[in-house]
Amino acid sequence: MGKTSIGLNGRNILVTGSPGFIGANLVLRLLGEMTSGTVISLDNMNDYYDPALKSYRLELIEKAAEKSNVRHVFVKGSIADKALVDSIFAEYKPSVVVNLAAQAGVRYSIDHPDVYIESNIIGFYNILEACRHYPVEHLVYASSSSVYGGNKKVPFSVDDKVDNPVSLYAATKKSNELLAHSYSKLYNIPSTGLRFFTVYGPAGRPDMFYFSATNKLVKGENIKIFNYGNCKRDFTYIDDIVEGVYRVMQGAPEKANGEDGLPLPPYAVYNIGGGTPENLLDYISTLQEELVRAKVLPENYDFEAHRELVGMQAGDVPVTYADSTALEKDYGFTPKIGIREGLRNFTEWYSGFYK
Ligand SMILES: NC(=O)c1ccc[n+]([C@@H]2O[C@H](COP(=O)([O-])OP(=O)(O)OC[C@H]3O[C@@H](n4cnc5c(N)ncnc54)[C@H](O)[C@@H]3O)[C@@H](O)[C@H]2O)c1
Repeated sequence: MGKTSIGLNGRNILVTGSPGFIGANLVLRLLGEMTSGTVISLDNMNDYYDPALKSYRLELIEKAAEKSNVRHVFVKGSIADKALVDSIFAEYKPSVVVNLAAQAGVRYSIDHPDVYIESNIIGFYNILEACRHYPVEHLVYASSSSVYGGNKKVPFSVDDKVDNPVSLYAATKKSNELLAHSYSKLYNIPSTGLRFFTVYGPAGRPDMFYFSATNKLVKGENIKIFNYGNCKRDFTYIDDIVEGVYRVMQGAPEKANGEDGLPLPPYAVYNIGGGTPENLLDYISTLQEELVRAKVLPENYDFEAHRELVGMQAGDVPVTYADSTALEKDYGFTPKIGIREGLRNFTEWYSGFYK
């Protein structure tokens, strides 16, 4: 599908889920790249993980905004609050919306289903309705590799069937893609869904394996390695994700009419993943080496004594593996940063932040 170029300068850009991990990094990039305009961050700052990290990321954003010609506005609130979402769209009439706000996490969705429906379904619906009433040039939103469920065919392609989610989280993300398709078709809203593959990096999410394992090892606790280590993950470093989102924001699916004279949905979905799935045990070995190198843990740390190999957890999948050729073809970009470099950056950040 053809793309319509969108210049970001001078525009109002709404990023929900900033200062979440990906959102904060995206906003920092926007403040660095744009020469004028306004970036609005909307986040409810919930305590799913330590909100101090969100405050820290918000401080980084505010510092960057002081040096930027771009105005930054932070609104604390929920995308599930329809009146609030409407008022933000009425005031700023954003040209581009990047919806990253969501309740993330596969395992948490087993015990806390309500918040997934509230944030990921009702919240996303509110964003779509606002895009309908205050037309935007491009709605970009986070989907997830989890939509591929237990698919056996690898690498995962956006042309594959994804009708068998194995967690409520995955079901909400797949629902987002379906809802976006209907709004793209009905109201001619250009929308692009991005299926992210296990994103990691400095000031990332403490609920994710590399970060929670680090916290546990530092406290001398054991780490659990699921499926006895027989997992492969297409780990994607944060800078690669930001590069992908930044490029995609500026190229919206083209509007066109079908034979019936009605709009064809200006709708697209892409994978963003490195395409080099890593064995979980190799990833852990690299993390260990980098933790020692960054002096987070001593050289004689007994890693073997702190590992527990356990079975698969409900909702988890054994493999994720992205086919990102469509992203490369349409936006000239494929994630490139390997786990050595990515984990080095994480451990160095961790060492500075916590010590
Ligand atoms: N990090 C990954 O590996 C990964 C992989 C696939 C998809 N994703 C998706 O990417 C997006 C960003 O993920 P992240 O890793 O930055 O997670 P994150 O939890 O750090 O960021 C999400 C932010 O959204 C906010 N939020 C949650 N519910 C909200 C609501 N109702 N209203 C307003 N704000 C709300 C949170 O406070 C948080 O700051 C999410 O949609 C997530 O599902 C992430």
